[in-house]
Amino acid sequence: MIIRLEDLEFAQLTPDMELLPFCSKDTDLNNFLAEDAKNYAADLMAVTYLFIDTEKQQIAAYFSLLNDKVAYDPQAKGIWNRINRHISNNKRRRSYPSAKIGRLAVATGYEHAGLGSQILNLIKSYLVTEPKLGCRFLTVDAYADATDFYRKNDFDYFTTLDTFDSTRLMYFDLKPFRDNITNYKN
Ligand SMILES: CC(C)(COP(=O)(O)OP(=O)(O)OC[C@H]1O[C@@H](n2cnc3c(N)ncnc32)[C@H](O)[C@@H]1OP(=O)(O)O)[C@@H](O)C(=O)NCCC(=O)NCCS
Repeated sequence: MIIRLEDLEFAQLTPDMELLPFCSKDTDLNNFLAEDAKNYAADLMAVTYLFIDTEKQQIAAYFSLLNDKVAYDPQAKGIWNRINRHISNNKRRRSYPSAKIGRLAVATGYEHAGLGSQILNLIKSYLVTEPKLGCRFLTVDAYADATDFYRKNDFDYFTTLDTFDSTRLMYFDLKPFRDNITNYKN
């Protein structure tokens, strides 16, 4: 069964907001929302957005976003050349502006219903629609058991060096996505 994002209430987390319950299978992600997310917002370190099930009075999913950069790594020359090939005036560039998904979690009972993928599409659209800042890539330090989810949503690995790590750096190129959804011509 698909749950539509539109059927949930969307809200940006603010310091004065009383948090409804949220429980995913990942304790760190539950604790971040309960204990840290407001401080991150207050310190301008990350902004957190909620999807609220108003009927059940609980949070169905949340994500947090922050600025990032994709930087040249001499150990990942292959991927760097591949990235550069798609960017004009790329000579000697050593980094590209990006946004990072700091956290993304779907509550137990709401998983496998398309919410995570719809949230990724919403973030991608948000970053390329009337952008206020240059932002070429969307990145995430993906939990090892969530990498298939990001691959399914067209994210790529930045390096093979983190293959056996607990998280893997992944990225999504926003330009083809923007060109596709807006019929952009340059
Ligand atoms: C990973 C997560 C965000 C996916 O959200 P979701 O709403 O279940 O994802 P969708 O329904 O859009 O897509 C699910 C598909 O992604 C793929 N997938 C791969 N790994 C997965 C995983 N660990 N959990 C869920 N789906 C996964 C499957 O193809 C799945 O298809 P299926 O439902 O037919 O099995 C969610 O399961 C979650 O919050 N997990 C716990 C926390 C976490 O790992 N967050 C990511 C931090 S980087």
